[in-house]
Amino acid sequence: MKTEFDTAGLVTAALEARGMAYTPYSHYTVGAALLTAEGEIYQGGNIENASYGATNCAERTAIFKAVSEGRRKFSAIAIAGGLEGKEPADYAYPCGICRQVIKEFAGEDFRIIVAKSAGDYKVYTLEELLPHGFGGESIQ
Ligand code: THU
Repeated sequence: MKTEFDTAGLVTAALEARGMAYTPYSHYTVGAALLTAEGEIYQGGNIENASYGATNCAERTAIFKAVSEGRRKFSAIAIAGGLEGKEPADYAYPCGICRQVIKEFAGEDFRIIVAKSAGDYKVYTLEELLPHGFGGESIQ
């Protein structure tokens, strides 16, 4: 599996994806950029709903877009979030549901990048963010 990738480029795609978020309720926009094993980037923004629980996070938007188009192998996801119209003030870590969805499709080489800007980011493995997670191997 390819482990080298343009981290700053992926973060830039996540920052751009914030512009596609639909956030009339929280006004907190999140962008995610998912890199496939083939080198394509799928972007997603959070999509809110008047029934708050129906909201879809940016990470899942990007993952579901990719999976629904037949992609199954991924190298990394970059995530950036902050108040609408402003640069991210902090790192936006994926929520628990998104960590679980990432687990479904992430191999050992997968990396999760949380970013404030193209030059200010942190890189994690899924094991660091979801230790002792529940996965398909658990139900074999
Ligand atoms: N949100 C994401 O898009 N990703 C996360 O991992 C955490 C939260 C969104 C959901 C909601 O639209 C807004 O951030 C505030 O919770």
